[in-house]
Amino acid sequence: MAKETYTDTIDWDEYWDEAGEDRREDTSPSADLVLEPFVEFLTAKLSDELDAYADVGCGPGDLVFEVAERYPDATVVGYDSAEAVLLENRDHAREAGLDVEFKQAVLPAFDPGQRFDIVSCFFTLCYVRDIERALVNLYDAVEPGGYLVVHYHNRFAQAHYSSIAESPSEYLDEDSVWNPETFAKRFELVIQGKSLLSYERIHELLGTWPQSVFSVADDADRYRAHRYEPLVYVPK
Ligand SMILES: C[S@@+](CC[C@H](N)C(=O)[O-])C[C@H]1O[C@@H](n2cnc3c(N)ncnc32)[C@H](O)[C@@H]1O
Repeated sequence: MAKETYTDTIDWDEYWDEAGEDRREDTSPSADLVLEPFVEFLTAKLSDELDAYADVGCGPGDLVFEVAERYPDATVVGYDSAEAVLLENRDHAREAGLDVEFKQAVLPAFDPGQRFDIVSCFFTLCYVRDIERALVNLYDAVEPGGYLVVHYHNRFAQAHYSSIAESPSEYLDEDSVWNPETFAKRFELVIQGKSLLSYERIHELLGTWPQSVFSVADDADRYRAHRYEPLVYVPK
């Protein structure tokens, strides 16, 4: 049953099982694109206090490790569907002497049994067929007074990704992080319009308007795709 949900596009367990250092780097977009604005956002919103943080779809856990270092007294948990990447992250945490946990969660289900001041989910919702249920479950895990912070794809991304899928070799070369042969399958849910969100839809689902993280983190660089792959926070 769980298998169905995380093979919505690609089999992430197999993906991480075969992963070397290159693949880990290529599959950590947050390290380059989100870390800086996210840290600025935390600094602005938290004024030094953080009790609990969860990152869902954490991949190699760059943000998880960063938050654990900055807030050593906080409970910090990285969730991912793929046990293979979680195992490596646990080894890394042990070696680095960091007090973080890595647990399995397969969106759209998310029922961690506790609430967090901040729940984040970056570059992951696009792979989840029932994105709306995932969003509601992520928001349920936020402590009142806290924030959900997510990256998602919108209608402009659908148009852009559809163009790439139609002629991948025009857009993607050997330096690209995406394989031209598997691009269309990997982003099938975005291209078919199944895993898209918008400000309006997030408001309808959660009852609160999202706001751009860059409206708070105004010193951080906005990544190039931020208009069609927004980075937003939803207060609770
Ligand atoms: C592109 S990586 C992003 C990693 C990290 N969040 C970042 O932005 O650097 C997507 C991650 O989501 C995980 N994932 C895919 N489908 C998932 C699901 N249904 N539930 C939880 N994690 C999932 C994958 O195993 C992978 O580690």
